Amino acid sequence: MTREPMPRFPAGFGWGVATSSYQIEGAVREGGRGVSIWDTFCRRPGVIRDGHTGEVATDSYHRWEQDVALLAGLGVTAYRFSIAWPRVQPQGRGPANGAGLDFYDRLTDALLASGITPVPTLYHWDLPQPVEDEGGWMQRQTAQRFADYAAMAAGRLADRISLWITLNEPFIVTAFGYALGIHAPGRQLMLGALPTAHHQLLGHGLATAALRAAGARQVMITNNYSPAWPASQSGADLAAAHAYDILHNRMFTDPVLLGCYPDLTALTVTGDAASGLDCVRDGDLAVISAPVDGLGVNYYMPTRLSASPGSPLPFQMEPIPGYPVTAFGWPVVPAGLTELLGTLAERYGSALPPLYITENGCSHDDKPAADGTVDDQFRIDYLDGHLRAVHAAIAAGLDVRGYFHWTLADNFEWSEGFHQRFGLVYVDHDTQARTPKTSYRWYRDLIAAQRE
Ligand code: FCB
Repeated sequence: MTREPMPRFPAGFGWGVATSSYQIEGAVREGGRGVSIWDTFCRRPGVIRDGHTGEVATDSYHRWEQDVALLAGLGVTAYRFSIAWPRVQPQGRGPANGAGLDFYDRLTDALLASGITPVPTLYHWDLPQPVEDEGGWMQRQTAQRFADYAAMAAGRLADRISLWITLNEPFIVTAFGYALGIHAPGRQLMLGALPTAHHQLLGHGLATAALRAAGARQVMITNNYSPAWPASQSGADLAAAHAYDILHNRMFTDPVLLGCYPDLTALTVTGDAASGLDCVRDGDLAVISAPVDGLGVNYYMPTRLSASPGSPLPFQMEPIPGYPVTAFGWPVVPAGLTELLGTLAERYGSALPPLYITENGCSHDDKPAADGTVDDQFRIDYLDGHLRAVHAAIAAGLDVRGYFHWTLADNFEWSEGFHQRFGLVYVDHDTQARTPKTSYRWYRDLIAAQRE
């Protein structure tokens, strides 16, 4: 297929990839690391496809130099990775674990030596198990614990790292981890999980202050966004889409950018959803809405919603026909990314900080050919479409500063185990051999051309 050449992105636009600690590191019992909720969750029978775990993952704890070489070969200007809280502070309270900090210290230096800006996320879902044993994100004190840990990480690294991300996708933690139980810690509290939203956001606010006190120059939060499409123009379906929009797209962003929660009455089906926020105390929203230097946007797909009479939730999800789908079954809708960036600009106006696409990618059933090469034209088309969608938003006047593709190499995809391959690099999960796919070369050439 011949395409128009990719339009030029602004000078200084960041080109990156993103990963997360539990999905790549492995070595769960090494270097003094404590137990995380994902170690515990993966041992529960039946929760992870085929009983896979992140115990070894892609062994990046040992193979990190090889991974940095792959990043350098790709020519990325920035690398988003996450710091495992249980490596840095094994008990989730008390002293730092020097060996854990050393690991991220070495990684930081190696990235900088390769001309790659390190962009760490402090919480990509691997809570220390002892913190969960005391109630996890249902407990207010977890927010302060998180800020203490953030200070430890920044105390070691902020002299070399300027941009920090506090939380990754707190919506998913609340929804999958505490409401539905399909992610760690596997609790099924339904709308009773709402306090985890507030406590994570409070953690973000307290950590932002702690990071700045430790010398971090720029701080942001990463949320995932999904345009909420009504299945029809009926009043009931419009209301369902509105309720979903509040929960997914506004609940974790309005407090940070506007200093208030959205009106939760749309979520009320049984009981009073707003009472989930009874835990909010005077002054919390001022902490949460301390200025940020950017907003991290993760985008995978839109969500189509219809009314759901008789169910405890005010919406149900509907398939979105008419688009190609990834191996996960997710529809590929690049225009949804332009749409959501436009919605953020409209909704938050001058309160919107610069935007960074901190995740976007697709899983595909990649298989090496007889000669060992892995041709993933599907991913190239995906990347091409979504980068054009980002460019369209920039052309419309939005301040988007970077794009991080999810992900560098096939890794442990949470409840799907190793079944969903999202990488630009193919990983043989038996041998850990890494083979760059065709998309790796495509992205490399694109970055090189954009930086000429
Ligand atoms: C996001 C997660 C990331 C990865 C992608 C596919 O929700 O942040 O860890 O699993 O989905």
